Amino acid sequence: MQNLRDREKLADWDKSYLWHPFTQMQDWLTEDPVIIERGEGVYLIDIDGNRYLDGIASMWTNIHGHNHPKLNTALKTQLEKIAHSTLLGYSNIPAIELAKKLVEISPSGLNKVFFSDNGSTAVEVALKIAIQYWQHKGQKERTLFLHFDNAYHGDTVGAMSVGGVPAFHNTFKSLLFETIRVSAPETNSDKKKEDNSKLTTDLWLNSVERTLFENKGTVAGIILEPLIQGAGGMLVSPKGFLKGVEELARQHGTLLIVDEVMTGFGRTGRMWACEHEEVSPDILCTAKGLTAGYLPLAATLTTDDIFNAFLGEYRDLKTFFHGHTFTGNPLACAVALENIAIFERENLIEKIQETIQHLHDRLQKFYNLKHVGDIRSCGLAVGIELMKNPKTCDLYPFEEKVGIRVCNAALKRGVILRPLVNTIVLMPPLQITISELDSLLEITYKAIAEVTEQC
Ligand SMILES: Cc1ncc(COP(=O)(O)O)c(C=O)c1O
Repeated sequence: MQNLRDREKLADWDKSYLWHPFTQMQDWLTEDPVIIERGEGVYLIDIDGNRYLDGIASMWTNIHGHNHPKLNTALKTQLEKIAHSTLLGYSNIPAIELAKKLVEISPSGLNKVFFSDNGSTAVEVALKIAIQYWQHKGQKERTLFLHFDNAYHGDTVGAMSVGGVPAFHNTFKSLLFETIRVSAPETNSDKKKEDNSKLTTDLWLNSVERTLFENKGTVAGIILEPLIQGAGGMLVSPKGFLKGVEELARQHGTLLIVDEVMTGFGRTGRMWACEHEEVSPDILCTAKGLTAGYLPLAATLTTDDIFNAFLGEYRDLKTFFHGHTFTGNPLACAVALENIAIFERENLIEKIQETIQHLHDRLQKFYNLKHVGDIRSCGLAVGIELMKNPKTCDLYPFEEKVGIRVCNAALKRGVILRPLVNTIVLMPPLQITISELDSLLEITYKAIAEVTEQC
């Protein structure tokens, strides 16, 4: 616990020196910031000693809880040896062991691992590998990526180019490269899931197929978030869509790139979202949960076919000229290895099935709230969309900040949430207990009721 002067000093310095991401700083400067000092399991503790349930797993990353003894030990043990050495021209033990482990636990066919630092760089690497691959294969006209409305693959320029969230991407249009954007499948709310799935899947696969025909021979790859689009609004794809896209990619001889940055590491109830539909992509991107939310680390996995296309004499210039300074950082790799070891030791994927079922059952109660328009969930990822009038799908005006107000109301009751406009996201650490989950749901329910009853 800090004394009052320390608290004020930190808040003051925050406002004087920090620029927070995805934050309207004019609003921020008028508010009292929550300054986190410690973590314990699913709880975050601020400098005043207040405890908050981390309902968004610290931006969708945390898996086993904060301050986990085994993860801490893995980190400290590695720290005693070395914090960092480069993978450019040299190797290190944790990076080697993690690459092997990732290949073992990933969808079949993915045999090579390229490390980087975050989800966006994992995607940049995937895009650049795909472009260069086709050049080596003598199909230089394959330069376009097919991607979807509402897609979010990160904030770097390449990742934005294959994104589809107007609020995030429109400002930077002049920077983005040419792509082929396809409308995304209509989202599947938990209510509608069963009845419209097949029809929607067919409809949207037809649209992907038509687009591939129209752009014959020019598509370098199809990139998508498997099963659920995250930052675009927690939009769940209809059943069979992912598998269908894989089949179309095969038929049209293009690459399938899956962005498992959010979905990977158990978030959807399987280790990888791809497993739900037995999909084997050509390239897979992972980050966030890779280190259980401890340190920045990302990986882009590829097939032997792709890797082999880059082999050649030094003078052939087939080298993949890409790399980040902290690529394969030993501390991050060591903690990632322990993360995977915990998954295995604790049989975590099986263990969370009960949590997922419980969450799904309890969510139905939210439809009692008259401004809950839609609930979309996939494993332990949930979006509760609030609407002014759910019957007419009338949305709340953006400027009313209903989502933000609900999160503020939850914060007062001890839960940390962050909305996607007026969709309230629940994304707890995977190891949340049933009673902790009940608290999260109860507080979220009350916060939505309190705010939406006034508007
Ligand atoms: C699916 C997906 N891809 C990529 C990213 C970008 O990851 P990062 O913020 O680590 O760059 C995100 C982040 O939310 C994501 O959800």
